[in-house]
Amino acid sequence: MNHSDEDINKIWHPFTSLVGVQDPIHIVKAEGVYLHTEDGRKILDAVSSWWVNIHGHGNKVIAEAIYKQALLLEHVIFAGFTHKPAITLSKNILSILPENQSKVFFSDDGSTAVEVGLKMALQFWHNKGIKRNKIIAIDGAYHGDTFGAMSVSGPSAFNAPFSSFLFDVDFIDFPSGHNDEEVIRQFEKLIKGENIAAFIFEPLVQGAGGMRMYSNKTLDILISHAKSKNIICIADEVMTGFGRTGKLFASDYLQNKPDIFCLSKGITGGFLPLGVTTCSQEIVEAFLSDDISRTFFHGHSYTANPIACAAANASFKLLTSAECQANIVRITSKQIEFVTKTKNHPFVSDCRSLGTIVAVELKASETSYFSDLRNKIYPFFIEQDILLRPLGNVIYIMPPYIITNSELSFVHRAIEDFLNQLTEENNQS
Ligand SMILES: Cc1ncc(COP(=O)(O)O)c(C=O)c1O
Repeated sequence: MNHSDEDINKIWHPFTSLVGVQDPIHIVKAEGVYLHTEDGRKILDAVSSWWVNIHGHGNKVIAEAIYKQALLLEHVIFAGFTHKPAITLSKNILSILPENQSKVFFSDDGSTAVEVGLKMALQFWHNKGIKRNKIIAIDGAYHGDTFGAMSVSGPSAFNAPFSSFLFDVDFIDFPSGHNDEEVIRQFEKLIKGENIAAFIFEPLVQGAGGMRMYSNKTLDILISHAKSKNIICIADEVMTGFGRTGKLFASDYLQNKPDIFCLSKGITGGFLPLGVTTCSQEIVEAFLSDDISRTFFHGHSYTANPIACAAANASFKLLTSAECQANIVRITSKQIEFVTKTKNHPFVSDCRSLGTIVAVELKASETSYFSDLRNKIYPFFIEQDILLRPLGNVIYIMPPYIITNSELSFVHRAIEDFLNQLTEENNQS
């Protein structure tokens, strides 16, 4: 039995149908922007392996930090105990977040970071003895796959089988640029009542929803309206955090600062799973009580795992280095050039970028995640040894920050080739 059969017999892969899909590609090693396959191919990872791998694969600084930490302290229960990697990481994270952030709570991944943010916000009101039990979110959002995170994600095929188990959430329309005033009015109407506990959003870019980008001015207005009603604002920066949008956090483009931040993905440079939720002092104060029932009774076995924290501290050093910041600026300007060149292509309905992210939205009759175009796009690039995983009819690049100009140009050219192929096919039909 070869590796591929063994995999198919035993493993259930994420977001993957159990029938009618290509065999998974077997990776034996990864270095820089390249994934090395069992049969000797080198695939350029243009999506940072689900958006986590910000410094490229096999980074030696992070690998060594993990090795050293594993020899010293691999894990310890985080209730009643603490350790230096977690303390250092909390100082590091708070040093780059807005000043209103005061405490760090650890979890395992993006979904649990969001789950913690939601529970903190809901318990904040519970502890104060005030009945606020509604959450506002933005249509098309994706906040993760646990039940709370699914509830605040826009209704979609992903969460449809569970819809009757999800809690009730008010969704405002996505502010597309054409309807922002209307969206602000919807929001104002929703917050007229006194029962809204929190407003959760992916600041400036909805990731899994199709790399949809929206105005920081509009989000600022929504947050300021929310704050006027003491509604807790939760920024889900799981995807946008750690430099993706050109600034360290997408919220750095905002005047009004969120009360809670949910972080994960790039935090360990893509080496180990780790989630973090931070909050303002005002939130902390609702939990400062001798009354045990006001405690935040939440935690996971691997909370603040020392090895994951050590990886995150090493990644933090790399991220805040002048070299990495210069790379982010360099990639940002290359992506802008690409947008200028590509946006008027006849098969492109929209081409946009923010920081290191670029998205090319193709004209299509079906624009959802399940667009047929996906079945054309993914294999086209894999055949050219490029990993680009489209979101329906949206091709996007989210590269590791170490990608060189020529590697990025190679990806840009491959997208241009794909668009030209669509033109040729259209001319022939
Ligand atoms: C904005 C956002 N929030 C939460 C999540 C969930 O993160 P995880 O897959 O690590 O649970 C994702 C994942 O793509 C995300 O993009």
